[in-house]
Amino acid sequence: MPSLLHSGKATLVMGAQFGDEGKGKLVDMLAEKADVVCRVQGGNNAGHTIVVGNKKFVTHLLPSGILHPHCHVVLGAGLVIDPFVLEHEFNNIESHGVSLSPDRITLDPRAHLILPAHKIMDQKREESRSSAGTQKIGTTGRGIGPAHASRAFRDGIRIGDLRSKEVFISALENSPSLREGLDQTNIENLLKIGQKLKPYFRDASAVVHNAFENNQKVMLEGAQGALLDILFGTYPYVTSSHLVAGACAGGIGIAPWKISEVVGVFKAYATRVGNGPFPGELSGTLDTWLREKGHEYGATTGRPRRVGWLDLVALRYIAQINGYTSLAMMKADVLTTLENVGVVTAYRNSETGELFQGWPLSTQAWDKIEPVVEFVPGWKHLDTENPLKNAELNSYIEFIEKHVQVPVKFVSLGPERSQGVWRTK
Ligand code: IMP
Repeated sequence: MPSLLHSGKATLVMGAQFGDEGKGKLVDMLAEKADVVCRVQGGNNAGHTIVVGNKKFVTHLLPSGILHPHCHVVLGAGLVIDPFVLEHEFNNIESHGVSLSPDRITLDPRAHLILPAHKIMDQKREESRSSAGTQKIGTTGRGIGPAHASRAFRDGIRIGDLRSKEVFISALENSPSLREGLDQTNIENLLKIGQKLKPYFRDASAVVHNAFENNQKVMLEGAQGALLDILFGTYPYVTSSHLVAGACAGGIGIAPWKISEVVGVFKAYATRVGNGPFPGELSGTLDTWLREKGHEYGATTGRPRRVGWLDLVALRYIAQINGYTSLAMMKADVLTTLENVGVVTAYRNSETGELFQGWPLSTQAWDKIEPVVEFVPGWKHLDTENPLKNAELNSYIEFIEKHVQVPVKFVSLGPERSQGVWRTK
């Protein structure tokens, strides 16, 4: 494994498509060598699936590094946290014999809470879009957007406010809209969770700075995918947080220059959950085949994912914004047996026929986008011992590198940690 982690620096591993790229596996592999693993943004809209032996773990809030007893895991101030989900996750992971002692977990008390009112609002907003004749965003329904909105309105409540009844009740009094869906019982339950979480409250930024001082290796685990970024994604069909590399530093409270590697993780094809533009989207039998073969169902909501060909226009665009130093291609095994593999290499204006390589800058512009799909020879079978001996797989990787101008350093060929190869050139 080439060294993607450096002493006294951070490595950011982030999704380069619409989420669900299989980051969990790579993060989990890198976590073996990391000292500190941090989640920096988003909330339990994320779902990371990690397979260890015959056990499958899905985490929504805790970074994948949690399964490595030597790792200190950090949940940064940039997160929005549903405390009921966090408690459930703690209990589930603990039931598998993983130690969750406070000396191995830091929870920044400045992370904002997702309360029942946010989930109700999320649902109502989706319904009102629908009844107004506007397409739903297709959110995960976890209250993510409304929790970020409360934070921006400056009437949000932070997870650290659960540390005492007095503080929490006074915060609720100041934010009457957040009382919806809260009765005496769940207020008591929230306060109990607050007591349980209290020993974990620490300044996450200071913890990571301390790790840098001690020459430790820090990994930042991005959630979702950069094409869902609120500014640079397919707005409004995006999530509500900033997902790009610069913002990830902000989510934990470190300087951007402390990040020495930015790894963009993408699937050998593409998927998207929820609505919004998706050039290269497939339909018909190939769509069903790919979804089934790739088990493309949401880890958080169970929704079937939309599937399509890899979009190199999008990948190049997002690589530039994030300054990827390397790429990791996941799930290449899923495409095995295909005669030809499609790749989106340009966009075409459906009205004028004009070809272009750039990213549409308005919602309306997307309505006129048609993908230009090129087909390259597929890899019909792979030698499990040495898959990179396969000429077609190699040309596919080189084709991607030529378009994106970033080296593909890791190719994943199955869910197990052992199923993947590092490219050294
Ligand atoms: P929200 O984050 O729940 O508000 O959802 C906004 C959009 O982002 C929807 O299209 C979701 O399906 C999508 N989304 C949010 N989190 C993830 C994720 O972790 N993986 C894939 N899509 C996501």
